[in-house]
Amino acid sequence: MVSKPKVVLGVSGGIAAYKACELLRRLTESGHDVRVVPTDSALHFVGAATWSALSGNPVSTEVWESVHEVPHVRIGQAADLVVVAPATADMLAKAAHGLADDLLTNTLLTARCPVVFAPAMHTEMWEHPATQENVATLRRRGAVVVEPAVGRLTGVDTGKGRLPDPAEIFEICRHVLNWHSPARGTATPDLAGRHVVVSAGGTREPLDPVRYLGNRSSGKQGYALARAAAARGARVTLVEANTGIPDPAGVDVVHVGTALQLREAVLKAVADADAVVMAAAVADFRPAVYATGKIKKQDDGGAPTVELVRNPDILAEISADRALPGQVVVGFAAETDDVLANGREKLRRKGCDLLVVNEVGERKTFGSEENEAVVLASDGAETPVPHGPKEALAETVWDLVLPRLRATT
Ligand SMILES: Cc1cc2nc3c(=O)[nH]c(=O)nc-3n(C[C@H](O)[C@H](O)[C@H](O)COP(=O)(O)O)c2cc1C
Repeated sequence: MVSKPKVVLGVSGGIAAYKACELLRRLTESGHDVRVVPTDSALHFVGAATWSALSGNPVSTEVWESVHEVPHVRIGQAADLVVVAPATADMLAKAAHGLADDLLTNTLLTARCPVVFAPAMHTEMWEHPATQENVATLRRRGAVVVEPAVGRLTGVDTGKGRLPDPAEIFEICRHVLNWHSPARGTATPDLAGRHVVVSAGGTREPLDPVRYLGNRSSGKQGYALARAAAARGARVTLVEANTGIPDPAGVDVVHVGTALQLREAVLKAVADADAVVMAAAVADFRPAVYATGKIKKQDDGGAPTVELVRNPDILAEISADRALPGQVVVGFAAETDDVLANGREKLRRKGCDLLVVNEVGERKTFGSEENEAVVLASDGAETPVPHGPKEALAETVWDLVLPRLRATT
């Protein structure tokens, strides 16, 4: 019988501790053996009885129980994944500095498996340089630290610091567990310490207050890329245009509408990025004039002529003028015919390192859960990606980006 993957769910003392119950449920129901290790403070929010009953395992906060089993060492050693949700500012500080004054902090020091922290706290605590430095330390060491969401906090206040949706944290855990399976043989996420930028969706170029020129891009491929990078340990900025998809956990999302807004957001985000993947469908043209009132039907039965002007070519611009030496730039080419020939020509023209070429049509790729593509590289390599989930293409793209990343110091 194959044994269940062992997950340690660390819960520290934040108001969002109750949300960890749902994460626990999702983990156990999907076949994981979960040992909950709360802190003393966490038990002020949710009691040990709840954790024990939901996990089917004993619960302890300190190292002095069942000492003959040496739990302060064994629990961490046996784990396939440790996820701390919520992770308080205090817990991040302890983990970054190697303190070991309770069972959870001991477990974090003895675990050699991937570790995911999902911080939750008030915006001031999150933005404090002490917390930011602790997060940077943990990421540098290979932990996946999920970016908190923006939204309602403990009281009436809102801001960055909210625990992401448990379903999203669960997806990250699943992803990290799959990625770091014994077959792959690595415990440190391979994009840890990297900042990557992904654009997703399709821009809309307004004609008047009610109409726009748009495209069929759903944004699903860009979201798959962002999720995959977050699960592989990267800090991810996702610049999204008009997708309507909820923000993925662990990702900084910038919402834009038009090509010019997308350009501005991407140029800002790439300033310190190791890699940029431009998966968004950016309009090549926009109406030359924006009518401030709704364009009316003409009395003579005629139709208005819409004059278009070119939008800037963002992919060519960031490829030609790299914000950092060695920054890796990846483009997407949606082609309807002569797919590969057009792709090779586009790769030359744009000057990017990799170009993901796929065939699109009304019922192909756009909005679908699946994709099929060839990834062309500037050194002439071609990697076909067979028809499959967009997540699989996303992993291949990061696999190809990885060896091209500049060395870190
Ligand atoms: C009502 C209440 C809510 C709190 N929420 C948070 C929180 O969301 N994030 C946080 O970092 N600390 C929060 N704290 C403070 C922590 O509980 C405190 O720093 C504690 O020492 C954390 O201990 P632990 O990291 O061992 O769990 C909260 C405290 C109280 C009383």
